[in-house]
Amino acid sequence: MYSEKVMDHFQNPRNVGEIEDASGMGTVGNAKCGDIMRIYLDIDDNQIIRDVKFKTFGCGAAVATSSMATEMVKGKSIREAMQVTNKAVMEALDGLPPVKVHCSLLAEEAIHAALWDYAKKHGIEIEGLSQPKSDIGEEETDEEY
Ligand code: FES
Repeated sequence: MYSEKVMDHFQNPRNVGEIEDASGMGTVGNAKCGDIMRIYLDIDDNQIIRDVKFKTFGCGAAVATSSMATEMVKGKSIREAMQVTNKAVMEALDGLPPVKVHCSLLAEEAIHAALWDYAKKHGIEIEGLSQPKSDIGEEETDEEY
């Protein structure tokens, strides 16, 4: 049912963890399955993604796609990272079963949410990036509460 690559990234996920003082952080959830994904980005002055980490409360396909997605954006410019769609991630993993396609969206949306956070903090606009739909991170990360 799952490709070898999916199984590999599920069993040995790359870039799991968090980045302290991340340049951008994004959290998205999928209300249907209740899964949550958080992405941390470390972006340098040349807008290159130096490091990326993820944490997820998600299914195996979400773990595998996030692992692959983080590998694909690491070392890339913001512009290049914007090209890393869930479709590209699924292709790199040799496909996902149709019922699991939505899981791959969590990684893409969380990366976009983290880029949005970075752009907001730096007062810049990123071409093709719009406000994330399902950012549920604000309540969780606000230390005032
Ligand atoms: Fe929720 Fe896969 S079932 S992300």
